[in-house]
Amino acid sequence: MVALEAAISAIGYIAQALVLGFFVTAGYLLPGSEPEPLRRTLAIRACRFLIIFLCASAGALLIQGAKLQRGELPSLEILWRYLTATQSGNVWLLRECYAVALALLAFTITRGAGRLHSIRWLALLSLPLIASRSLTSHAVAVKTQTSWAIAADAVHLIATALWAGGLVAVLTVVRASRGQASLNPIWLAQFINRFSRLAFISVALLFCAGLYLSWVHVGSLTTLVATDSGKVLMVKLGLFAAMLTLGAINFLSTKPAVRDMAHSKVINNSLVDKAIKRIAVESMLGLAIFATTGYLTVLPPGVHALHTEGQNFPPAQPPALQPAQGASVKIIAPVNNQSVNGDRVELSFELTKGKQGHHAHAYIDGELMGMFEGNRGTLNGIKPGQHVLELRVVADDHQTELDASDKVVFTVK
Ligand code: HEM
Repeated sequence: MVALEAAISAIGYIAQALVLGFFVTAGYLLPGSEPEPLRRTLAIRACRFLIIFLCASAGALLIQGAKLQRGELPSLEILWRYLTATQSGNVWLLRECYAVALALLAFTITRGAGRLHSIRWLALLSLPLIASRSLTSHAVAVKTQTSWAIAADAVHLIATALWAGGLVAVLTVVRASRGQASLNPIWLAQFINRFSRLAFISVALLFCAGLYLSWVHVGSLTTLVATDSGKVLMVKLGLFAAMLTLGAINFLSTKPAVRDMAHSKVINNSLVDKAIKRIAVESMLGLAIFATTGYLTVLPPGVHALHTEGQNFPPAQPPALQPAQGASVKIIAPVNNQSVNGDRVELSFELTKGKQGHHAHAYIDGELMGMFEGNRGTLNGIKPGQHVLELRVVADDHQTELDASDKVVFTVK
């Protein structure tokens, strides 16, 4: 199930990046003197990627429903409850409706003349679709500076889509122009120059946002090397380094060579072929990063995972509880034997931190499901049936659990 969820998540990332990349290339990067159909062709491709995005989102919904229904095909009732009773379900519904409206508008525009300003509007209208993915990301579950984490995630999503999605559009344009009698070296140099500027800004933005997200979700070198999501992030960073190297070669070698070709006003096909090869490799690396990220984002973030991974959970010998030193926790809600409708369980509790306590870990049937610093929280995706909720006071290293806990039994209907 995890592999399927990761694959569908990756297809979703790739499809939304190509939507933005193709609309932006058609609307803002083509220099203007190209054959008219080229712009419309790119916009029509972007529409097709929108359809792929819609299908991937439908697949993601089915997977979410199957997870709620213990691996079985979800019933319409379970899907409807997920869509209407959970925050991630609400966001899914909004994004899907927005994407359908955008697809209808895009098809209408591209069936017509596909005028420049309409395509520019489609590029701008694609931005909220991409950015809103951050409202269902791990950033939402970050306890402190949540809006910063969501904003960084949105910037990261848009910048990666512009760079990696834009690269595939550039490759499509250069390949389509290769061998055309009408191919003008000055036009090609202008086009490459425009994308290069966009790529430069996007890489700077995604790098800063990516580092911040790594700090929020991974937080330390120990977590980077000791957790599954840390290890996947390292693979991603390796691919990123390779992609950046290709990007630097294109920036420092391909672009100047195309500029010189423009000055000579003579098309050099072997140079164009070399440019196509280099851009193709850089694009493939971008798609590989999206695929890796599809897996990264279905894993629990490193900071949450450090306790569980690498240990058989519940561990053979539970870690020695440290003395409470004045710490205590009392569960107010749910009360013992309470029934809860829907997979969202609202928690409220009294936490006394004492000398060493920092926050509370929430375990459902022994599985770590959340961490709360205040005296309220929400647990999502709790499956139907009877459960044991245990809150334990933990020190700020997320590891040291104190001899201060409380338990209740509740039922999800
Ligand atoms: C310095 C380079 C980068 C770093 C440090 C970085 C780090 C991260 C981190 C920590 C996350 C959050 C993972 C989570 O939610 O658990 C993330 C998400 C993501 N990254 Fe990167 N990344 C980098 C480059 C890239 C590149 C080059 C791409 C694409 C070509 C990319 C695509 C994505 C996507 C699509 C997400 C998912 C965001 C979401 O689901 O809301 N990243 N990245």
